[in-house]
Amino acid sequence: MLCLAWPLLAGLCAVLQAQEVNVKDNLVGYLGQEVVVPCSFLAKDSSVQLTMVIWYRNNVNIGAYSPQHNTSFQESGTRLSFVNPSQKNADLRISKLLATDEGTYTCEVSTFPVGNLKGMSKLTVKAVPQDSASVVPVVAGDQELTVATCKSVDGRPPSQITWQTSVPGNFTTDVTNNTDGTSTVISNYRITPTWMANGEKITCVVTYDGREMPIPLVLSVQYSPVVTIEGYDDNWHLNRHGASLTCNAQGNPPPTDFKWKTADGSPLPPSVHAKGNVLYVEQVDERVNKTFLCEATNVLGSRVSQLEVLVREYAVQTQTNNAGAIAGGVIGGVLVLLLLAVVIFIFVKRGGLHSSKGHGSYNPKTRVFGTGKQTQEFNYQDDGDLDRPLKGSVPPRDSGLSPSLCEEDDDEERMEYKVLEDEEEEEKFNEVGPMLQLRPHPHGNSYLDDDMESQTDGSIISRTAVYV
Ligand SMILES: *[C@@H]1O[C@H](CO)[C@@H](O)[C@H](O)[C@H]1NC(C)=O
Ligand SMILES: *[C@@H]1O[C@H](CO)[C@@H](O)[C@H](O)[C@H]1NC(C)=O
Ligand SMILES: *[C@@H]1O[C@H](CO)[C@@H](O)[C@H](O)[C@H]1NC(C)=O
Ligand SMILES: *[C@@H]1O[C@H](CO)[C@@H](O)[C@H](O)[C@H]1NC(C)=O
Repeated sequence: MLCLAWPLLAGLCAVLQAQEVNVKDNLVGYLGQEVVVPCSFLAKDSSVQLTMVIWYRNNVNIGAYSPQHNTSFQESGTRLSFVNPSQKNADLRISKLLATDEGTYTCEVSTFPVGNLKGMSKLTVKAVPQDSASVVPVVAGDQELTVATCKSVDGRPPSQITWQTSVPGNFTTDVTNNTDGTSTVISNYRITPTWMANGEKITCVVTYDGREMPIPLVLSVQYSPVVTIEGYDDNWHLNRHGASLTCNAQGNPPPTDFKWKTADGSPLPPSVHAKGNVLYVEQVDERVNKTFLCEATNVLGSRVSQLEVLVREYAVQTQTNNAGAIAGGVIGGVLVLLLLAVVIFIFVKRGGLHSSKGHGSYNPKTRVFGTGKQTQEFNYQDDGDLDRPLKGSVPPRDSGLSPSLCEEDDDEERMEYKVLEDEEEEEKFNEVGPMLQLRPHPHGNSYLDDDMESQTDGSIISRTAVYV
């Protein structure tokens, strides 16, 4: 603007516009590594001379470069340097990046004769954390305990930790600020451990820098055995062979020791013998008529389950009877359904659902003469001549109608039902009776038109109306 308004200054304006300090607005560096904060100077006019560059961090002078006077840094040591200083370039290299290097960097370029030019960059210092998670094995009990722990160590900015699991519990997360500007985040998942939580999945999700890192774990809850006895079918009768009881015991660690006993403290009857978690009964006799105990043991303890065996004098046949009855019931049920289906089929085919009046049929090619018992169906040659039967009229359906006709008729039946349903919906929609069927279908369906066409007796009763 100024340059346009003052043509005399045009020369200087051109020079000014040509001078530029090129920087990068945002930079990311990683702790301990190096980063280059760029600053270049474009002198399009060779008469413009760079005399000095000063770098500021958060407005504090940290270093300078002059083509005449070499480089100079406020901070001792060699962390700061110019990459390749020249009339055109004053890129600042920062090595062994510290968290305190984070901030706004200003590159101030002094030129002759133009003056000072500035460029600013924002440097963010990050540190990628080390993530890990582990399960803390616990023993089942009433106390709330940490069962899994998840760490994100030395991250900058701090990570976020969440948990995903179906096991109800709480978690606590602690953030520790380290002296180097990083943070360590530790999260503990706490539950009141029950044996059911053992083996359940839990995932620690560490979110750092917008990325999620899931770490899947499996909970470990140690518990003393949970015992059930299986194998008794309530049909242990005298002289039965090959009966057995199985002691099912879950536990963490798995139970290894099983003891079979009798509830009254008497020794096991001679006809039974225990092997591991199975109690074999070679032959059932009166002495087996008692309550048996199984004691399963792991390092955490023992637990006992008991089962009362009732010895019968004779085998109970109910089981096979039951099976037979069930089978019979199923077969009977299927038969009844089949019969019902056949009845409905016949009923429908005989026009039971059609009106008893002739014009109930809308199929242009068929017409039902529904007079109850003697219902017959005939085929007609064309739509316009419904009253004249085809030569050699088609025999009644019962004596064998051609399959194609049957199918066609079936299609019509299905259409009928569809129409009825649609009409019902439409009635609900409009809250007006079936009279509306005479209007064009609001959705542009054409079946109503077809419907009307099929009425050859001049009636405007739609096929639907017949059934309403
Ligand atoms: C500029 O300084 C560096 C060290 O900072 C030195 O190695 C170099 O010789 C100096 N150059 C001149 C021309 O003084
Ligand atoms: C979570 O902690 C609250 C309060 O500390 C406690 O009342 C609740 O029972 C805990 N929930 C679970 C599932 O442990
Ligand atoms: C850790 O640093 C954050 C800012 O980075 C601060 O909000 C928080 O209070 C600090 N925590 C501790 C325990 O010093
Ligand atoms: C088994 O004991 C029950 C009583 O607990 C008794 O009623 C039954 O008759 C006994 N069975 C045999 C075969 O002795």
